[in-house]
Amino acid sequence: LSDTYQLNNGEKIPVVGFGTWQTPDGEVAEKSVIAAIDAGYRHIDTAAIYKNEGSVGRGIANASVAREALFVTTKLWNDNVTYEQAAAAIDESLARLGLDYLDLYLIHWPNPERIRETIGYEKRNAEVWRAMEDAVTAGKIKSIGVSNFRPHHIDALLKTAKIVPAVNQLYINPSDQQEEVVAYNKAHGILTEAYSPLGRGELLEVPAIVEIAEKYGKSTAQVVLKWSLQKGYLPLPKSVTPSRIIENGQLFDFDLSDDELTAIDQLHGVGSLTRDPDTIDH
Ligand code: A2P
Repeated sequence: LSDTYQLNNGEKIPVVGFGTWQTPDGEVAEKSVIAAIDAGYRHIDTAAIYKNEGSVGRGIANASVAREALFVTTKLWNDNVTYEQAAAAIDESLARLGLDYLDLYLIHWPNPERIRETIGYEKRNAEVWRAMEDAVTAGKIKSIGVSNFRPHHIDALLKTAKIVPAVNQLYINPSDQQEEVVAYNKAHGILTEAYSPLGRGELLEVPAIVEIAEKYGKSTAQVVLKWSLQKGYLPLPKSVTPSRIIENGQLFDFDLSDDELTAIDQLHGVGSLTRDPDTIDH
């Protein structure tokens, strides 16, 4: 869990992150962050809209490792459109988390409805990106990136960006592989992070995965997460259950064969696990 990828700016990022989407604020979030750090995770992923930054921050403060040993990501919510709003949102996230710097800060969505219907994604993303670049210069953020961006959103951003996004965080699991965006990220040196890497827990009874899991004596969750890692992605499994938090980090005592990776690749579109309609941005 302390293995790292190197980002395009030279910073190192632990290869598995602890996801906190839908983790309720309060004791649950705080305790699950502490459980994750105790289990060896060194990378925590939250967002302003998850409304749990305060509790995540308390978990970080009360954990057994120093802040510098951790990699913390949060995200800019959709209602921030201007430079000034983005600059303020960064300071507010820092305050809620109780941190004096972020390791990674992402634009959460490229083109939500309210932006589509007003200033448009090109102008908005250029503006907030400038605020994020200035926060890097000011030492408030080490790396900046995007989430849910498709190639045309990044192409537009690159017209004015001084810093190339370090990561693009996407909904990726065997049932929804987003191959076009993944290829684009790779061609531009952008690391692909995978949220909901377990298909929100719904991929865990697919027979092809069960068969592979039985062969290695691992759980189906571990097989799906290993697939994500061996594809070169950075999975962000979410759990509030201590035993699952531990299980999801135990990925380094087996390797999937090329044939097994290919078998899992074939699961694209399996079941009803397509993306939420609102995760397909325009
Ligand atoms: P819980 O948080 O109650 O433990 P994803 O990361 O794809 O969004 O999936 C998160 C969902 O999968 C949550 O409902 C979580 O439940 C569940 N989950 C996480 N890890 C495991 C696991 N190892 N086995 C089964 N379910 C899991």
